[in-house]
Amino acid sequence: MSKVYITTPIYYANGEPHLGHTYTTLLADILSRYYRLKGDKVFFLTGLDEHGAKIEESAKKVGINPKDFCDQKAEIFQKAWKDFAFQYDNFIRTTNPQHIKAIQRTLIYLRDKGLLYKDFYEGYYCVGCEQYKSKLDLVDGKCPDHQTEPILMKEESYFFKLSEFSKELEDKIKNNEVEILPLSRRNEILEFYKKGLKDVSISRKAVKWGIEIPFDKEFTLYVWIDAFLNYLTGLGWEGDLRNIPDFWPPDIQLMGKDIIRVHATIWLGLVRALEIDFPKTLFVHGYFTVEGQKMSKSLGNVITPYDLLEVFPRDGARFLLAHSLNYNQDTDLSWQRLKDEYNDILVKNLGNLVARVLKLAENCYSGNSGFEFKTFADEVWQNYKQNMEDIKIAEAIDEVLRIVNFANKYIDEEKPWEESCVNAGKVLFNLLVFLGYVALMLKPFMSEKSEEILAQLGIEGGENLDFQNRELLEKINFHPKKKGILFPRIEQ
Ligand code: ME8
Ligand code: MG
Repeated sequence: MSKVYITTPIYYANGEPHLGHTYTTLLADILSRYYRLKGDKVFFLTGLDEHGAKIEESAKKVGINPKDFCDQKAEIFQKAWKDFAFQYDNFIRTTNPQHIKAIQRTLIYLRDKGLLYKDFYEGYYCVGCEQYKSKLDLVDGKCPDHQTEPILMKEESYFFKLSEFSKELEDKIKNNEVEILPLSRRNEILEFYKKGLKDVSISRKAVKWGIEIPFDKEFTLYVWIDAFLNYLTGLGWEGDLRNIPDFWPPDIQLMGKDIIRVHATIWLGLVRALEIDFPKTLFVHGYFTVEGQKMSKSLGNVITPYDLLEVFPRDGARFLLAHSLNYNQDTDLSWQRLKDEYNDILVKNLGNLVARVLKLAENCYSGNSGFEFKTFADEVWQNYKQNMEDIKIAEAIDEVLRIVNFANKYIDEEKPWEESCVNAGKVLFNLLVFLGYVALMLKPFMSEKSEEILAQLGIEGGENLDFQNRELLEKINFHPKKKGILFPRIEQ
C-alpha cells in the first residue's frame, strides 16, 4: 500500500462554481476513488482561495464584508461538491486561522533565509488573473483571458528571489523529477524557462484583504503565495518545517492551462526555498468552451454544476464530464452532444445491455460454466489501469466501453433468448462476468450506478470485490435479479 496525495487548485471565492471547477474537482475525485479501490491511502484536497483584490472588489460590489462574502461562497461550493458526490478529505479555506499563522511563519523563515528584499515594483497587473503581466502576455494591450486592460502598478514591494532557483527548477522539470503532463505543456514551460525566471513581487500595499506581512504591517501578501501554501496547510501543516505532514509531497496536482505557468515557476520556487520534497506530477487540462465560445459571465453562457444536474442524473453527469475533455486542446461542450452521448452510451449501450442480460439471466442462469473471454478481459483491465495511472481518464472509460460494445455484439450474435435455458446458460454466464467487470471499472466514475449493477448481479461474496481481487468475478456465482431502469432516457 502506498500513499497518494491529490490536489486541485483552490478556486477564487469571488464567483460560484462552474463547469470548469467541477471538471478539475471531478478528475481529482475519480483518481482518489481509483487509488482507494486499489488499496492505497489517499488524501484528496480541494478548497477556496479567499484573499486578494478580486474578492475584495466583488464583496464591495454587493456590500458585504469580505469574510462573510467568502463564508457564503464556501457554503455554495461545498454544497455543489456534495451534490456531485465528491469525497474530498479536506476543504481548505485560506481565511482559516491555522493557514494564516502557517503563512506568516513561512514569511519570517523566507526573510531570515535572505530570500526576500524590498524594492519598487512597476508593471502591469490583471486583477482577473491576479497575475503580473508582461507586454508579451497581452493582446492589443488587453489580458486575453479577461478582455480587460491590466492596471499599471507602481509601488514599493517585497520581492522573492525566485531568479536564484531558475536553473535548478528548469533541471528538475527537464529530468522529470517534477513531471509536467501532458508533454505539450511541459514543452511550453521549458520554453518559458529559457529566458530565466525573474524575482517576483510578493506584497501589495493597496490591497487590504490579504494576510499581513508579519514584519511590515503596511503590506499584505500577494494572493498567489498565500494560495500555493494551501497545499501544505490543507494537510494540517502549521508552518513548522521540522514537522512536514506525512502525506507530503503531492503525487498529482491537477489544474487548468491558465495556472500551470505560476505553478511551474513560483510554486516550485517556494517548495525549493522551503527545502521540502517536490510535487511529483503537475497535470494540466485544457478549457471547456460552450457552443464555440469562452464561458464568461458577460456572455451569459456559464454552465454551472446545477445546469448539468437538472438535465442528467448525477452519475450520468459525472460520466459525461469525465468522458468529454481533451487535455491537449480546448473542448467545446454542446448540450446536444451531451444528450446524444447520454442516450447512446448510458441508456442504450450500457443500460439496455444490463436490462437484457438480467431479464434473461433471471430465468435461465444456471451457475458458473467457466468464463470464456479471460484474455480479452485481462487486456482491457490492464489498459484501463494504465490509462487511469497516466491520468487518461476518457481513454480509461473507452476501455470499459470496449467490453460494453463487445458484450452487445456477443448477445446479438448468440441470441440466447432463442435458446433453451440449458444452452443459454453458458452465454449468460459470460455476459454476467462482463457486466461485473464493467461495474467494477466504472466505480470511480459512477459509484452508485455501479453498485446498482453489482446488486442486480447478486454476486456471492460481492462485498469482497475490489480492484485487488477482481478475478473473483470469474470464479464466483451470481444470483441475478433485475431491478428498475439504470438510466432513464432523456428527451432531445
Ligand atoms: O486560478 N475549463 O482560481 P480560479 C476547464 N485561485 N477548467 C476551468 C475553466 C474552464 N473553462 N475555468 C476554470 C485560480 N477552470 C486560483 C488558483 S491554486 C493555488 C490557486 C478550472 O477560480 C481550472 O482548474 O480562477 C483552472 O485552473 C481553475 O478552474 C482556475 O480557478
Ligand atoms: Mg481564473
